[in-house]
Amino acid sequence: MRIGVPNEVSGSEARVAVTPDVAKKLQKLGFTVAVERGAGVGAGYPDKAFAEAGCELVDDAWTGSELVLKVNPPRSLEGEHHEADRLPEGATLVSLVDPARNKDLLERLAARKATLLALDQVPRITRAQSMDVLSSMANIAGYRAVVEAAACYGGFFGAQMTAAGKSPPARVLVIGAGVAGLAAIGAARALGAEVRAFDVRPAVREQIESLGGTFLMLDFEESGDGGGGYAKVMSDEFIAAEMELFRQQADEVDVVITTALIPGRPAPKLFLTDMVERMKPGSVVVDLAAANGGNCDLTVPGEVIDHDGVTIIGYTDLTSRQPTVASQFFATNVANLLAEAGGAEGWALDHDNEILRGCLILEQGELRWPPPKKPAPPPPPKAAEPEPEPAPVAKVAPKKKADLTWPSVIIFALGVLLIGGWAPGGLLQHLTVFVLAVFVGWQVIWNVSHSLHTPLMAVTNAISGIILVGGLLQAGSGHLDTASILGAVAILFASINVVGGFVVTQRMLRMFRKG
Ligand code: NAI
Repeated sequence: MRIGVPNEVSGSEARVAVTPDVAKKLQKLGFTVAVERGAGVGAGYPDKAFAEAGCELVDDAWTGSELVLKVNPPRSLEGEHHEADRLPEGATLVSLVDPARNKDLLERLAARKATLLALDQVPRITRAQSMDVLSSMANIAGYRAVVEAAACYGGFFGAQMTAAGKSPPARVLVIGAGVAGLAAIGAARALGAEVRAFDVRPAVREQIESLGGTFLMLDFEESGDGGGGYAKVMSDEFIAAEMELFRQQADEVDVVITTALIPGRPAPKLFLTDMVERMKPGSVVVDLAAANGGNCDLTVPGEVIDHDGVTIIGYTDLTSRQPTVASQFFATNVANLLAEAGGAEGWALDHDNEILRGCLILEQGELRWPPPKKPAPPPPPKAAEPEPEPAPVAKVAPKKKADLTWPSVIIFALGVLLIGGWAPGGLLQHLTVFVLAVFVGWQVIWNVSHSLHTPLMAVTNAISGIILVGGLLQAGSGHLDTASILGAVAILFASINVVGGFVVTQRMLRMFRKG
């Protein structure tokens, strides 16, 4: 199956849909890859790199390709044809599409009996994370928003103490803590700024705080959780209260980064002219929602403007300003999606596959979008109606399962203690302590929540260290008696625990290591 990678013709687009590294992966999936000359130059991938990666370099990547990979939706070229008309009949196109706003494109492609997979329609579910182009791009845009803000801001982001004086850290307000917002918080914190953030979804509070930001609270009982990590439309009262908060913040902050988005709707206007005018001259507003109308009413999409000394950045191509890594992430997401569809050999757009069905817009010219809604989960079973009392019959009480809760353990332990107390000292007393330790230890460990298993492991390793010392003292007594044998056994078990602990820790550390 031949993949074609054409040049991106949209305005300032510098990204490319496939990078040389990913081209190699695609070949492993059984595809051949034809790249149009110059397609990767803007992103820092020269033709030579594609040739070395085993790609064919061509002047026209549309002709003869069964699968065309693009970043932006095909568009009409001034004075020329429409890009969609270059797709071979019956071929498949994979790109960003925005189907709700591109009905004309869908009609053109349907006329060519095309199959269309829209990368912007990959559902935001855990299993699809490796194919989620929107999240990859939003992550980069959030980072780049901070870079742009720092370049325009006249001061330092981090606090500075020099012989010539000191400079406090910049104060950054992030509105909307989704993928882009969280990336912006992380980047601004990394530069040393003091960051505060607001979102309508209270669930993001923990994420904001874990990145070192402060979550701004609103004294208002309304959750904006619309499911799937997206927000829902908020009441007018909530928006008014939220804007009052931003008005107060405008007096204090130096940089505002707005990312608020509700899927399928124009961006909510949240940062208004009067708020911009309250900011100090030299401050910066970066409006990531510019392409969707902007969260700030002064934003001009694609432009940088100055309003009373405050710079308002409305770039709609932030990811394209970081083209090398953006292309790498984009291409990796696409390759993962193609692997999900079975690669070249097993290519099949299975309608039962939630990810493939979610982004399938056209199938051989037939409209398949929007996908059918997932059936609602069955309602919880109703409480059973009380059965009429059956005629009294002789019943045998069912045997209760042994319930090893605290009271039973304590009673058991007391019993063992009593017996141990009466018995002659020595072995039986040690046995009593041993049995008690086993039961109490078992109860404690069993009741520790999963999230605390790592610190628990550290504690058990420390205890094993103590056991090792005790075991060594007993085993090294010089006589071969019960105590020295038990000491040797204790050394064995404690060593297993210590070594096991190190092995598990090593494995966990490897998981966090890159590459
Ligand atoms: P997302 O859906 O993950 O995050 C949006 C966040 O806004 C959500 O957490 C949501 O709860 C929050 N939100 C919604 N209404 C709000 C309100 N009234 N007040 C406060 N928070 C509110 O979206 P993602 O992927 O982070 O994208 C954010 C924006 O960045 C989008 O507008 C997207 O189009 C834009 N973007 C811009 C790029 C550029 O080059 N300018 C590139 C990539 C994304």
